[in-house]
Amino acid sequence: MRRERRKRRRIPRSRLWGGFALVSLVLGGLGATVARAQQKKDSCLECHAALEGPLADPVTLMKEDIHRARGFSCADCHGGDPTSDDPLAAMDPRKGFVARPPHRAIPALCGRCHSDAEFMKRYHPALRVDQEREYFTSVHGKRLRAGDTRVATCTSCHGAHGIRSVQHPLSPVYPLNVAETCARCHADAEYMAAYRLPHDQYNRYRRSAHARALYDRQDLSAPTCNDCHGNHGAVPPGIASVAHVCGQCHVRQSALFRASPHKAAFDAMQLAECVYCHGNHDVLPPTDEMIGTGEKSVCVSCHPPGDAGYQAAERMRALIDDLSRELERAQAILDRAERAGMEVSRAKFELSEARDALTHARVLIHAFSVKEVENVIRPGLEVARRGYQAGERALAELNYRRKGLAVSLLFLLFLAALLYLKLREIEGPK
Ligand code: HEC
Ligand code: HEC
Ligand code: HEC
Ligand code: HEC
Ligand code: HEC
Ligand code: HEC
Ligand code: HEC
Ligand code: HEC
Ligand code: HEC
Repeated sequence: MRRERRKRRRIPRSRLWGGFALVSLVLGGLGATVARAQQKKDSCLECHAALEGPLADPVTLMKEDIHRARGFSCADCHGGDPTSDDPLAAMDPRKGFVARPPHRAIPALCGRCHSDAEFMKRYHPALRVDQEREYFTSVHGKRLRAGDTRVATCTSCHGAHGIRSVQHPLSPVYPLNVAETCARCHADAEYMAAYRLPHDQYNRYRRSAHARALYDRQDLSAPTCNDCHGNHGAVPPGIASVAHVCGQCHVRQSALFRASPHKAAFDAMQLAECVYCHGNHDVLPPTDEMIGTGEKSVCVSCHPPGDAGYQAAERMRALIDDLSRELERAQAILDRAERAGMEVSRAKFELSEARDALTHARVLIHAFSVKEVENVIRPGLEVARRGYQAGERALAELNYRRKGLAVSLLFLLFLAALLYLKLREIEGPK
């Protein structure tokens, strides 16, 4: 209302100044907003700002809060009457005041706005409004409903005061902070003692290839807890969804696996596909040792010596080893030639084709078919051998040049000697 009146008063004045109409409108609007903010009585904020300790902390924290930035304040969550300076009247339970919203009531408190699509649309049309509903599908939500107040609710993950946009680097649910937020409970042995759950997820995760990509290389496409468990529907992923989760990012391996003889076999054994071989939290960078028939092979736990899978594992490993060895050999001889000053950059460049073949073969492992691996290893071997031959040729040429140099040196020496003798003859006693 106030805003309307201000605008109406401004427009005729600006009409007088013709060209300044637009500027005045903008200034008028700004003025109205400031006036409204100043006019809106917020006794909660005023009085609590003057208090100390935990009673004043929310006021400080709220300075960074997205709700505060959108014009909300204490009473929007706690209720009460923010127009009264009398603490008893302001914090009157009859006016809906709740001092400490109980744990069980928090999803509904936040959901009052966040589950209301009509309401949220006014502020941020693209923001999801299913957090509360999703939350109650998670183990957290189901347990809360059953009366367990130790599980996470909205404020355990987002905080209550000082809630920021989830894209803010200081938000507790920003990708680089999520694991620590979950770890506050899940890595706390004492806190989790009442449950039949391990409490090592965080420590294992921090060792993983995923954590290294996320923390060391700041690769935000690497998964942290919520990428695998969901933001709000933190259900323990069942067998089917586990496969789904890895496959969301590792599309190639997942497609190969699904077309492989292992798909039906793993389903029948009710095994989590990728997780059986790679683990879930401590996914480490794989090595060639994982395949074959050696001690560290993942294949031999299911394939006894002699069966088709065992033989395949042996063969696939041999192919990979062959190419690795040939590549190393070629690389070494080309390096030697280069150090000796021979021009081998083209041969070195072509070697990258063999390196790609090796990388490709390590992906194709997931077809669990010798033929598929053979199909890329063979051409790779060809390239590596050609590279080695190029190195050999370069060294042979170097040798040849060295010999040529020696011959010409000898010849020059011989000439010099002749010249010397001749000089002696000329200068000798007449
Ligand atoms: C004139 C001062 C004053 C005003 C106005 C005021 N408070 Fe308080 N508030 C206090 C004091 C003092 C306490 C601590 C004593 C108590 O618990 O009653 C307190 C306590 C609280 C607590 C914590 C209670 C607990 O158990 O820890 C909350 C939450 C709170 N106020 C919210 C509000 C809200 C919301 C408003 C506005 C609707 C508001 N206050 C208005 C002075 C005020
Ligand atoms: C987004 C909702 C929300 C807003 C806005 C909010 N609070 Fe709270 N507040 C809570 C919840 C929820 C709790 C219960 C503690 C918890 O779950 O972390 C709480 C707890 C408190 C407590 C108890 C002590 C504590 O920190 O646990 C005080 C005091 C308090 N709030 C004061 C305020 C004041 C003052 C404001 C305004 C500056 C405010 N709150 C704004 C949700 C809110
Ligand atoms: C177990 C931790 C956890 C709990 C509990 C939780 N959230 Fe979230 N919340 C997250 C994470 C993680 C994100 C996503 C951050 C991102 O997108 O990178 C998120 C995102 C959000 C967003 C941004 C929009 C969106 O959906 O991505 C809102 C709003 C939100 N949560 C509100 C809530 C509300 C309301 C509740 C309670 C019903 C709740 N959250 C409970 C962890 C949690
Ligand atoms: C009075 C309504 C209201 C209440 C109650 C409320 N919120 Fe919000 N919340 C909003 C609005 C509006 C936004 C701003 C959306 C925007 O503009 O991005 C927001 C933003 C957020 C965001 C940031 C989303 C983003 O854009 O990244 C999170 C997280 C969030 N709220 C969590 C909570 C939690 C947790 C609670 C309960 C403790 C809660 N909210 C209570 C209205 C509310
Ligand atoms: C406030 C403490 C707390 C926080 C924070 C928390 N959790 Fe939990 N979580 C629990 C408790 C307690 C359980 C219940 C265990 C049970 O009942 O089996 C649980 C259960 C789970 C489960 C189900 C485990 C199972 O198989 O039963 C998953 C998955 C989970 N949490 C993931 C997460 C993730 C991911 C985060 C962070 C985004 C997180 N939690 C944050 C306390 C917490
Ligand atoms: C790369 C995906 C991925 C990431 C990242 C991840 N998890 Fe898991 N998590 C899983 C899978 C898959 C399972 C199911 C285990 C199974 O069924 O074999 C699981 C199981 C769990 C369980 C149930 C108990 C258990 O250990 O089996 C909890 C609790 C849990 N995760 C919490 C977390 C927390 C906390 C984080 C972050 C520190 C996290 N997870 C990160 C995939 C992941
Ligand atoms: C959100 C996307 C995402 C999900 C989900 C995901 N990963 Fe990853 N994964 C990545 C990224 C990104 C890397 C880092 C790649 C790199 O090192 O450049 C990675 C790395 C890996 C590596 C190491 C690769 C290497 O060459 O060192 C393995 C193995 C792996 N993931 C397996 C899994 C498994 C198993 C799961 C399911 C339990 C899974 N991933 C879930 C994105 C994901
Ligand atoms: C039967 C065991 C097994 C299963 C099941 C399995 N892998 Fe692998 N995976 C391996 C082996 C062995 C290697 C190592 C190849 C090498 O380095 O020689 C590997 C390597 C990888 C790599 C790194 C090399 C590359 O491919 O770029 C990723 C990523 C990967 N696996 C993801 C997955 C995903 C995702 C799934 C599920 C769809 C999965 N794996 C299922 C055995 C398995
Ligand atoms: C969890 C147990 C398990 C693991 C681990 C496993 N396999 Fe298998 N594999 C099976 C089962 C079960 C079958 C289907 C039954 C059969 O033909 O033996 C199978 C089938 C195969 C086949 C098809 C055999 C045929 O008859 O044509 C190949 C090839 C194979 N596995 C290779 C591998 C390799 C290579 C590894 C290691 C990287 C591996 N497997 C790891 C259980 C496993």
